[in-house]
Amino acid sequence: MSVRRRTSGTESPAARIRGLRKAFGERLVFDGLDLDVARGERVAVLGASGCGKSTLLRCIAGLERSDAGTIATAGEIGVMFQEPRLFPWLDVACNVGFPARDDAERARVPSVLALVGLAHAARRLPKELSGGMAQRAALARALVRDPHLLLLDEPFAALDALRRIELRAAVHEILTLTRASAILVTHDVDDALAIADRVIVLAGSPAEVAFTGNVGETATRSAILDALGVIENGGHARVRGRT
Ligand SMILES: Nc1ncnc2c1ncn2[C@@H]1O[C@H](COP(=O)(O)OP(=O)(O)O)[C@@H](O)[C@H]1O
Ligand SMILES: [Mg+2]
Repeated sequence: MSVRRRTSGTESPAARIRGLRKAFGERLVFDGLDLDVARGERVAVLGASGCGKSTLLRCIAGLERSDAGTIATAGEIGVMFQEPRLFPWLDVACNVGFPARDDAERARVPSVLALVGLAHAARRLPKELSGGMAQRAALARALVRDPHLLLLDEPFAALDALRRIELRAAVHEILTLTRASAILVTHDVDDALAIADRVIVLAGSPAEVAFTGNVGETATRSAILDALGVIENGGHARVRGRT
């Protein structure tokens, strides 16, 4: 079931995808995918490895060409990946300011560094950062153009449990402060429930939206696990159809 947050009459959604088709050679990843993200909405995308989550984000970000369909986005897009992808020869402030196109955007560097808790590390090189700090720098870089839509591709996956919880809280707080819309790809149901307003599960080949529900309504932990084909049995979990 799909329940969308209402946007004001004249506002276009943060993203509107219609009839997305994308193939890599014989591998048809999407064939007619539709997805809307409302302004300010945070959507978590879950699904089996290889189902097309990163491809979806890359198509929205314009990093990958779709074969058919339309992708409409309103305003600036910021992207963050599993790895920080910082230039090793540039300090944190220069990495964060790298996507800035003008003085006004460059002037945002100190404030986005402060937002992610890295004001003290502006002059450090990437090799002088912990994994969690490097991901914070990547988050600051994604924010420097003041995006309307943040695309987050498993941004916590490479972090240890504690750093993961810290960064998750920071992302949640920043999305609340900036009111940016977000699409968060994650393997972790708890990430989705902590950050998202709505959870979708992609499944199939070509992939379709197999489940969509609002957090606090139909997107409960057990409903999401069920849509992912995970059967919980006491403390044990297994994937349906696998032993
Ligand atoms: N550049 C590429 N060239 C060929 N196949 C690709 C490429 N990128 C992704 N794929 C294939 O497309 C499918 C979806 O990949 P991906 O979007 O990375 O999955 P996910 O992020 O859900 O794990 C997979 O079968 C993958 O092998
Ligand atoms: Mg991926």
